[in-house]
Amino acid sequence: MKKALVIENEPLTERIGLLSLKVDQHLCMAFNPGQFLKIGLSDGRFDPLFPRPFTVHSLQKNTLRILYQVVGKGTRALRIIKAGSYVEVLAPLGQPYPKDIEFPLALVGGGVGVAGFGFLLERLSSQRRKETALYYGASKRSDLVRLDYFKSFEVPLRLATEDGSLGFKGYITDLLEKDLKERCFRTIIACGPLPMLKRLKESLKGSGIKLYLSLENFMACGTGFCMGCVLPKRSGGYVHLCKDGPTLLAEEIEL
Ligand SMILES: Cc1cc2nc3c(=O)[nH]c(=O)nc-3n(C[C@H](O)[C@H](O)[C@H](O)COP(=O)(O)OP(=O)(O)OC[C@H]3O[C@@H](n4cnc5c(N)ncnc54)[C@H](O)[C@@H]3O)c2cc1C
Ligand code: FES
Repeated sequence: MKKALVIENEPLTERIGLLSLKVDQHLCMAFNPGQFLKIGLSDGRFDPLFPRPFTVHSLQKNTLRILYQVVGKGTRALRIIKAGSYVEVLAPLGQPYPKDIEFPLALVGGGVGVAGFGFLLERLSSQRRKETALYYGASKRSDLVRLDYFKSFEVPLRLATEDGSLGFKGYITDLLEKDLKERCFRTIIACGPLPMLKRLKESLKGSGIKLYLSLENFMACGTGFCMGCVLPKRSGGYVHLCKDGPTLLAEEIEL
């Protein structure tokens, strides 16, 4: 594992934060959108054996950003880490988003599942961005974070909140399904809570749209050794989410 300097740790909401790390040029060159890293705290505030996995949210000029949500011990420890301290980083891990994406493309993020799409949009050419739409849903307005950053890509930004406090009232999947009556996408990449991903998989069955899901699972080693993250494949056998994923073609896996 390498050490990375914490440049800033900005609280965005009560439970969501933006961690900015300084990383070396070698790591910057090695990362592609869709890949992830594991972060540990060298003072042992995380279980030392299990650094936690996070998607790269943004990577610009040696600054790597993570959008994280506090759910338990590790992310609580991350929340209070101060600028000027160091974290341990294991990276890059996993496979990038597919290289042969067919456009038009819709990116569908539920909650902090939207994180990885920032880095993808940073790397798409302006021509490709014109053929991309970002769908972003959360339970309420204040949980839709980094809106100015996402707006800066000038892609259609379709927002939904469950309580209707911003954008469409309902689930982001409802908004997408409504739009699909008038708009066509050839590929959809989705990341978010499991019920959202299951719903998308079900509703897009037979639509001809290629659906990729970015999945989460408990990841102990993150490198394919422990079997902690395996998922059954529809054709039989298993995939290692950490090594073969985290983004997989929906039709190839059982959820
Ligand atoms: C490839 C990959 C990429 C990820 N990218 C991000 C990211 O960009 N931003 C981000 O915030 N998180 C991301 N996660 C999830 C993140 O790794 C976990 O939330 C984190 O490991 C939880 O650690 P913890 O010690 O705080 O919680 P733990 O103490 O390990 O768990 C505390 C409780 O929270 C539950 N829990 C654990 N993970 C989650 C979860 N994801 N959602 C809801 N409940 C959970 C556990 O079941 C447990 O009940 C990613 C996970 C994977 C596998
Ligand atoms: S996390 Fe160990 S095999 Fe995937």
